[in-house]
Amino acid sequence: MNKKNTIPSTKITHSGLKPKTNFGIPNPPVYHASTILYPNSKSRREKKVKFQYGRTGTPTSRAFCDTMAELYNADGSIIAPSGLAAAVVGILSFVKSGSHILVADSAYGSTRNFITNFLPSIGVNVEFYEPRIKSQNFNKLIKNNTSLIYFESPGSHTFELQDLPSLTKVAKIYNVTTITDNTWATILGQNPLDLGVDAVIESYTKYVTGHSDVMMGGVIARGKKFKQIKKQSELMGQCSGPDDIYLAFRGLRTMKVRLEKSFNSSLKVADWISNQPKVINVFHPATKYHPDFKIFKRDFNIGAGLFSFELKEKNLKKIDKFIDALKLFGIGASWGGFESLILEADLDKIRKFNTFQNRKLIRLAIGLEEPEDLIADLRQAFKEIN
Ligand SMILES: Cc1ncc(COP(=O)(O)O)c(C=O)c1O
Repeated sequence: MNKKNTIPSTKITHSGLKPKTNFGIPNPPVYHASTILYPNSKSRREKKVKFQYGRTGTPTSRAFCDTMAELYNADGSIIAPSGLAAAVVGILSFVKSGSHILVADSAYGSTRNFITNFLPSIGVNVEFYEPRIKSQNFNKLIKNNTSLIYFESPGSHTFELQDLPSLTKVAKIYNVTTITDNTWATILGQNPLDLGVDAVIESYTKYVTGHSDVMMGGVIARGKKFKQIKKQSELMGQCSGPDDIYLAFRGLRTMKVRLEKSFNSSLKVADWISNQPKVINVFHPATKYHPDFKIFKRDFNIGAGLFSFELKEKNLKKIDKFIDALKLFGIGASWGGFESLILEADLDKIRKFNTFQNRKLIRLAIGLEEPEDLIADLRQAFKEIN
């Protein structure tokens, strides 16, 4: 059997291991390096060496980039010091002054902030679109100068899924590059490159690293698109420290069991929440009552443990009481770590097509605790507002 033909959840156990070149040690060594010495003057002039400088690649970073590329069945990947930095590299690889970019209205807030507040300053025309747009209406948004479409599926906080196969078909007709944020699904959930997307950005801060202690992101792509991304990444000096890469590698090996646990628990918690009298809606793409469940079933192998719900209660004091009563859910940003987190979503400033206006959305990141305990914690907190 060829290890390269295994499915991603098996591949994450073996990819990037080279014990034969590393004294039998399976994990790639952690090289701390800025200077890398050339064997002689000619080799420096001709740059005929594997590694030249810490920022542009070490055996540690190369092993990780190659591993992510192998998992996504791509030609290469770059590392960035955060998921946001990865999105910035990906976007700047495909826009220039005079370009038009189409962005899903549900894109992650800080990515949206960069798109809205930076791109116009370099002459890029920005347009947001309703994330559930049908492919037959999508072509009407594409202009002569549209150079990039930026998806995120599911979207941040509101969890709309996008029909990536249909939308990318339209993009290909007009020769427009597409990028998606795949942080929620990870490679275990879906491979957008196989659904027609040109490049994937992922915040490795979340499930890949998985222990709430590292910031890192990456962009993964095939062929010429990857070359363009690599060039942009080098122009912008993107890299990550070896200890963080080591932790991301370590996290990757156990991502399958962590993601499965978090996902399965989130379904139990979502189900319980959906039956609470104070709850109007639960937004989890892997539940039958989610409007995009058909897409989830078609495109995803597994989901994540991050979802939101809408409270009937709008009184902020009562919402604070509910959140503050929780003992197992920390109040904090990020997700994909071992611990459960809760966050109130404020969508007013970050949506153009805001059908969620005046709604009180609460986002839960389900960690590795037992779902029964999480439900018991939620039950006692709901009593505060019942
Ligand atoms: C969907 C999504 N994409 C990207 C990011 C950015 O990742 P990072 O925090 O590593 O910059 C986040 C962070 O929360 C996110 O939720």
